[in-house]
Amino acid sequence: MTSRSDAAAGRAARRPGSMPTVTMIGGGQLARMTHQSAVALGECLRVLAASPDDPAAQVSADVVVGSHTDIDALREAAEGAVALTFDHEGVPLEHLRALEGEGVQVRPPSTALQFAQDKMAMRRRLSELGLPVPAFVDLAGDVATGREALIAFGEDHDWQVVLKAVRGGYDGRGVWIVERRDEALAVFDAQAGGDIVLMAEQKVPMARELSAMIARSPYGQGAAWPVVETVQRKGQCAVAIAPAPGLSEESAARAQQMALTLADSLGVVGVMAMELFETVDGDLLVNELAMRPHNSGHWTMDGAVTSQFEQHLRAVLDYPLGDTAARSEAVVMANILGAEEAPAMSMDERLHHLFARMPEAKVHLYGKGERPDRKIGHVNIVGVPGASVDDVRERAERAAHWMSNAQWTDGYPTDGHETGESLGDENLGDEKRRAR
Ligand SMILES: Nc1ncnc2c1ncn2[C@@H]1O[C@H](COP(=O)(O)OP(=O)(O)OP(=O)(O)O)[C@@H](O)[C@H]1O
Ligand SMILES: [Mg+2]
Repeated sequence: MTSRSDAAAGRAARRPGSMPTVTMIGGGQLARMTHQSAVALGECLRVLAASPDDPAAQVSADVVVGSHTDIDALREAAEGAVALTFDHEGVPLEHLRALEGEGVQVRPPSTALQFAQDKMAMRRRLSELGLPVPAFVDLAGDVATGREALIAFGEDHDWQVVLKAVRGGYDGRGVWIVERRDEALAVFDAQAGGDIVLMAEQKVPMARELSAMIARSPYGQGAAWPVVETVQRKGQCAVAIAPAPGLSEESAARAQQMALTLADSLGVVGVMAMELFETVDGDLLVNELAMRPHNSGHWTMDGAVTSQFEQHLRAVLDYPLGDTAARSEAVVMANILGAEEAPAMSMDERLHHLFARMPEAKVHLYGKGERPDRKIGHVNIVGVPGASVDDVRERAERAAHWMSNAQWTDGYPTDGHETGESLGDENLGDEKRRAR
């Protein structure tokens, strides 16, 4: 086994160029796609990954394997890097503060990131800054007091209430949408006295969800992409539509301005997503913040002049930011989610069929195993001039559904090739197909 210092020397030897090293904590798909942008800038993203099999660890030549909760692993990953940044929010704040004390450029800094790590702190700060948020209540501390606070809050809101884990939730894990008193109390009682700290907020009567993505550099430059509409399924983002159809210019500008101003007030560095609810009355409320590349920005990889991943690197390196204009009037991203049961047809075979039918589909696969509802990739469709947003969306969803399930939503046959054999036949090996 190589020691940590051997590994560090090996990394230095592989890095003869003079381009800066950025370290990203976390080896998931966001780091994987940031690495793609790093390559174009003549860099290699250094990744702190939990396992060599992680999506980013598979592709970066500069990997530290270790835990984001281990200060020594964090120190090793930070050594010699110009900046340290994140693909998730899980690094303990005290570790980040320690690294900052040792001179590491943590971007975004711990003073900003704390608000993306803790939903209660975020809600409080947003309301202090005068930003519109759903009504909320803190349920932390003494169990009896928390229960009383929940009952009072629930009565005030007709039990149209959402309970949330203050920390550690993602993709809808740690979010409980309830309709009745007994449901809400059951969630509360199940967590009472445990490690998960809860808050509650009003269930917003919403028309749809939006995301305002921006970037901010240490120099103070800000840039905003068009505001997108996001569609959630089973608590996680399934589709993003850019720009958000029918959103008035005034509302879009307001959302962008809220995100830019907030990023300035908090000292955010890098890209930031502000998730918003558009209420049935047309108001905008801030749901949550992510201070890293975000699912709602994946469309920018093919649909904007500058992708969120390149922009994140530009921002953390304090380069001037790139043009955020969309390349088309309609761009749609659809996530490829693991099917209930992984199809017999291989991913390679599915890709082959997809490309045969939809040459315009831009596919991004994360190198992850298929598990039900797991995000394993996404498809972007950039609309041609004059294409309707509904058509672009239909294509993106059809492509993503195909990649997940090996079934076309419109009944298009999977066979019909010259031999007349079904390509969906699990006995048809890849070699045989390639030999055609
Ligand atoms: N107050 C609310 N009113 C109505 N729906 C809500 C509310 N809060 C959350 N939701 C729904 O639950 C989803 C997940 O909530 P939230 O974004 O807070 O959690 P998360 O798990 O951190 O999300 P992510 O998937 O962005 O990581 C939201 O996108 C929204 O669809
Ligand atoms: Mg969310």
